[in-house]
Amino acid sequence: MAANRTFSIIKPDATRRNLTGAVTKMLEEAGLRVVASKRLLLSTAQAEDFYAVHAERPFYRDLVGFMTSGPVVVQVLEGDDAVRRNRDVMGATNPADAGAGTIRKELAESIEANTVHGSDSDENAATEIAFFFQPDEIVG
Ligand code: CMP
Repeated sequence: MAANRTFSIIKPDATRRNLTGAVTKMLEEAGLRVVASKRLLLSTAQAEDFYAVHAERPFYRDLVGFMTSGPVVVQVLEGDDAVRRNRDVMGATNPADAGAGTIRKELAESIEANTVHGSDSDENAATEIAFFFQPDEIVG
């Protein structure tokens, strides 16, 4: 399949533990290339908007609180079958269920503080990339 793109967030539990490089190394070793990256402190409004699909879930307020609790690193990743490749290296949402060698198994603290977010489809990848990046900020 042709190289394509996905969207990633390195979450506050990882930036707090100085794991930005460790996470990025695992992404790169999985065959993904960082073609855009910036470190941000999300506003409550940004986190609410980004996770609006989960607004009715019981964990929504905690999730928004967690995602605004410290810096995140938002990235655009490029590679063959990028969405699937990224989800494979991230592992299951709950680190207790994640496979050995995945980012969440090796590094995540809990189902909420699970170190990384990754788009779940090409369509959502495009939406999530556009949420944070202008086209000229992405350099492949
Ligand atoms: P993410 O891939 O960023 O998408 C939504 C996030 O909500 C998810 O990762 C987790 O951090 C969080 N999440 C999902 N399910 C739960 C849950 N049952 N309890 C707490 N947080 C959750």
